[in-house]
Order: sequence, then C-alpha cells, then structure tokens
Amino acid sequence: MNFLELTKKRYSARSYTSDVIEQEKLDYILECARFAPSAVNYQPWHFIVVKSDENRAKLNECYPRQWFATAPLYIVICTDIDVAWERQSDSKSHADIDAAIAIEHICLAAAEQGIGSCWVCNFDLEIFKSNFSLLPSQYPVAIVTMGYVEKSPDGTSKRKELSEIVSTI
Ligand SMILES: Cc1cc2nc3c(=O)[nH]c(=O)nc-3n(C[C@H](O)[C@H](O)[C@H](O)COP(=O)(O)O)c2cc1C
Repeated sequence: MNFLELTKKRYSARSYTSDVIEQEKLDYILECARFAPSAVNYQPWHFIVVKSDENRAKLNECYPRQWFATAPLYIVICTDIDVAWERQSDSKSHADIDAAIAIEHICLAAAEQGIGSCWVCNFDLEIFKSNFSLLPSQYPVAIVTMGYVEKSPDGTSKRKELSEIVSTI
C-alpha cells in the first residue's frame, strides 16, 4: 500500500465492534505518534489511552453520541502550552499544530493496521475538565476513537479538486 492508498483508506469511522485492539497494534500506533515532527522538536504532547469502563463513561459524558460510545478505546491527545514552541514574531503557539500532526499519524497508522478511527474535537471542554484532572498548562486537543469497524459508511467523503485548492505562482 503506497501513501496515497493509505490516505484514502483512512476515513472517519463512526461504528465499532466491541473487539479489543491488540496491545501490539496499540503500541505500534503510539510509536507512530511518537515519531511525529514538532516545532523545535519540543514534542509538547501527551497521549491518554482511555480503556476502563469508568473512564470511558466519563469521556462519553463529554461527547454524548450513540456511535461514540461504541468505540472500545479512545486516545485523548493533549498539548502542553508551556512546552510548545511560540513564534517570536507574533507569539503564535504551535501546540495545536504539533498535536494535529501526531493525531493524524495515529489515524493513518490505525488505518494501516486495519483499525478505524475518528477525530473528535466537538466535545464539551468544561465537562472534560471536571471529569479528568490535567495540568493547568495541558489542553485536550482531540479525542480519537479507535476500534474495529462494525459498518463502513456508504460512500467516501468528498474532497475539493486540486484545481480549486492549488495555485502555482
Ligand atoms: C480537527 C477535526 C475535528 C473533528 N471533529 C469531529 C467531531 O467532533 N465529531 C465527528 O464526528 N467528526 C469530527 N471530525 C471528522 C470530520 O468530520 C471528517 O474528518 C471530515 O468530515 C472528512 O471525512 P473523513 O474523515 O471520513 O475523510 C473532525 C475532523 C478533524 C480533522
């Protein structure tokens, strides 16, 4: 499978079986996240693997959707704004950018391993903060659902044509 094939294989999976993800596959996926690039190589991320019934229930309170609850495992990707690089010229923090790269490494690695995933950013931050204790400098960027897919979507999501999104100057 070449890289283009892998990028097309990944999609947002929103229906999972209860099958457990093998620890070797989870380790492989996390290792792929570990090797993501980050600004100045500061690696401001932290990955919380949510597996226990108690913590899965707490996470589901942050994003109460029927499909979300079917995922057997979640990875919450946090960034630490005290660790991330800030560009001097405008103080822009690169925390989210770094986290996003690692997140997509996770999703692509999962797809390569035959595991479905979905980014979730539309969760309730306040509920998350009251249900989980993070350092004040830590920010949960996304929850990635993960599991074997129960039902694939009927079609693939559309993309803009290259002619619409590329300009050569
Ligand atoms: C930053 C980001 C946030 C997202 N948040 C959510 C979300 O909260 N809930 C959800 O169901 N999907 C979420 N998605 C998935 C997108 O809806 C999905 O990637 C997009 O529609 C393209 O579909 P595809 O992933 O199947 O190719 C998110 C994706 C990204 C990249």
